[in-house]
Amino acid sequence: MNTILIFNGSPRKKGNTAVLCDSLAEVIKNRNGKTEILTLNSLNINPCRACDSCMRNKDGMCVQEDDMKDIYGKILDAHGLVFAAPIYWFMYSAQLKLVIDRMYALFGMKGNPLGGKIMAGILVYGGSDEHDSGAINAINALKTMFNYLGGEIKEIIHGTAMDIGDIRKNKILMNKVKELGIKIMQKL
Ligand SMILES: Cc1cc2nc3c(=O)[nH]c(=O)nc-3n(C[C@H](O)[C@H](O)[C@H](O)COP(=O)(O)O)c2cc1C
Repeated sequence: MNTILIFNGSPRKKGNTAVLCDSLAEVIKNRNGKTEILTLNSLNINPCRACDSCMRNKDGMCVQEDDMKDIYGKILDAHGLVFAAPIYWFMYSAQLKLVIDRMYALFGMKGNPLGGKIMAGILVYGGSDEHDSGAINAINALKTMFNYLGGEIKEIIHGTAMDIGDIRKNKILMNKVKELGIKIMQKL
């Protein structure tokens, strides 16, 4: 089964990012796709220590004993990766950054095992647009990463919602997430 792995980088369990992740998952499931949402805030994920053990180890894996052990396998098996997060201080949240930094261990001697996977971003912010909110930094960072990794689709959707539940009033973004789901399924 082609799985789309969705990273939710918000600490709010029922926050705006969570609503968008659920909506994306529903569209994909309704079209017989498979998704898994990882709520990063409830997982134990350490920062990269830059020890470079992953570059030297025979098995090429990270030496840290935390929840990334399982996530590495999920990333490698997935057909698509969706990076969803709120904007915190003009960038995606730290919860998402931890996973992205730790993806370093998947490179080195092993080449690039992520090339050709579907990649997309979902960003929510309290500001009025991508410039006012600083989301432009996160958009550029994700775009650069998707290009570097050789991802497919490479779409980043984003929009305004401040308080829990506000996202339901943002019909444009709620529609965009559905369209993203359809696009992903067309590509699978
Ligand atoms: C610590 C913190 C920093 C934030 N920084 C920004 C910011 O730089 N720009 C912005 O537009 N909104 C910012 N916000 C607002 C959130 O992006 C907004 O509330 C968003 O809807 C949260 O998404 P969630 O419900 O999925 O957690 C910040 C919120 C918090 C708690």
